[in-house]
Amino acid sequence: MTRTEYEFSVKRKDDRGNVRYSRYMVPKDRISTVLEGLIYITENLDQTLSVRYSCRMEICGSCGMEINGKPKMACSTIASKLGTDKIRIEPLKHYDVVKDLVVDIDPFFEKYREGLPYIIRDDDGNYASELKQTPEEFKEYEKYSMCIKCGLCLDACPIVGTDPDYIGPAAMAGVLRYNLDSRDQGSKYRLEIINGEEGTSRCHFVGECSEACPKGVDPSFAIQLLRSQGLKHEIGKIFRRE
Ligand code: SF4
Ligand code: FES
Repeated sequence: MTRTEYEFSVKRKDDRGNVRYSRYMVPKDRISTVLEGLIYITENLDQTLSVRYSCRMEICGSCGMEINGKPKMACSTIASKLGTDKIRIEPLKHYDVVKDLVVDIDPFFEKYREGLPYIIRDDDGNYASELKQTPEEFKEYEKYSMCIKCGLCLDACPIVGTDPDYIGPAAMAGVLRYNLDSRDQGSKYRLEIINGEEGTSRCHFVGECSEACPKGVDPSFAIQLLRSQGLKHEIGKIFRRE
């Protein structure tokens, strides 16, 4: 390795499940981000390497991977800021690998859907005009609406690693996002779900999910707020004799 190159070491998995690391030398003056390094590899060194990406600007959520042991978005990770010329790339933990750096994201979205991530109304939904919301009301849930469904928080979560049925940090941040929406009337349904066995009670508040989140969603704090909402919900049921 010369001082003008990065050494990419990429974990690979082939169709037969064989795992190995492939080493590639990438010229520093040709790339800025880690994703650009991987694209350089696929275009110039090895067309068989599989990488998933789209927007290249931390919006689509598709380029999550482990970079030197930490879950990160490859498109927003600047190679020169890693503090080393050796860059180890691995697929996200806690997901099945389809090939190389491409993981099966379907279970993530199945969990996300479990939290009913949409506006629920008790009325018939026929209104003379749109449901209005003030800027202050929007601010209540804005932070939790920034999630790009990248799945990094599931990689970071130690509970997901031992309990695949745990709803997980992203889905619960999604639950809070809709529970805090002034137009929504569905929190009573969502709180039943997150008060269940695989909901907030499984979280140990390690906070790794919030550290990994590239968009500042802070799922760990969301889960704490949900615990409080969930407790009020259960107390309310006692008073209503449900
Ligand atoms: S909460 Fe953050 S880390 Fe988790 S999926 Fe959303 S954006 Fe990604
Ligand atoms: S390529 Fe879209 S988030 Fe990285």
